[in-house]
Amino acid sequence: MRKNEGMSEREPSAPANRYPAAAEWQAVDKYFTETLVGEDPTLVAARGSGAATTMPNAEVAANQGAFLGLLVKIAGAKRVLEFGTLAGYSTIWLARSVGESGHVVTLELEPQNAAVAQENFRAAGVAERVETIVGPATESAAQLINDGVEPFDFVFIDADKPSNPAYLAAALELTRSGAVIVIDNVVRNGAVVDGDSSDPRVQGVRSVADAIAANPDLDATALQTVGEKGWDGLIVARRR
Ligand code: DHB
Ligand code: MG
Repeated sequence: MRKNEGMSEREPSAPANRYPAAAEWQAVDKYFTETLVGEDPTLVAARGSGAATTMPNAEVAANQGAFLGLLVKIAGAKRVLEFGTLAGYSTIWLARSVGESGHVVTLELEPQNAAVAQENFRAAGVAERVETIVGPATESAAQLINDGVEPFDFVFIDADKPSNPAYLAAALELTRSGAVIVIDNVVRNGAVVDGDSSDPRVQGVRSVADAIAANPDLDATALQTVGEKGWDGLIVARRR
């Protein structure tokens, strides 16, 4: 069987997960998700619909979605920009957290994924506050910059990893002081520490970390996580 960096052995046909996840990690996520988080039937269905996208099982775990939603609320964010929609699972958490008066713009390369997501937004009752823009996210973001849209308060970067530095640069054009920027999948089953990695996804994470470190306007940290989604992590940054 072919073995890629961090990929579960069920790759590539129908990965139950994109990284190996110990049974204990999964059990703890399940416990906290059942105890504290709860996924309503709409979210459960949105998770299931990931199978109809180009990247099954790449959505965040339920407790991670809840974490993103809490960050949005803690930040008091009303305008959210997301790079990478897929089935819209995280988008629903973000959209519910901005409330009825909030707005989420989500950028998705694949029309097939955007169609799946839009169905999920309707079912979740958030379609009116979510704008999905289909196309290469760097181009969509450049258009938003060109249009001079109102600044975003919160950005979630969760699309193709080699473009992380470009997405950060766009996020900085589209936000102001106090904005929060979160980047998914920055640990990649531990591969992030290999500076010589030939994997462009690993280099995309390392480059964006370097860019954040070099930017005096950003306070940031990173947390590695284990759970249902394996060993991975998030960068959280805030604009001064
Ligand atoms: C991958 C991408 C993701 O956004 C994610 O959450 C998990 C895995 C991937 O590129 O394999
Ligand atoms: Mg991700």
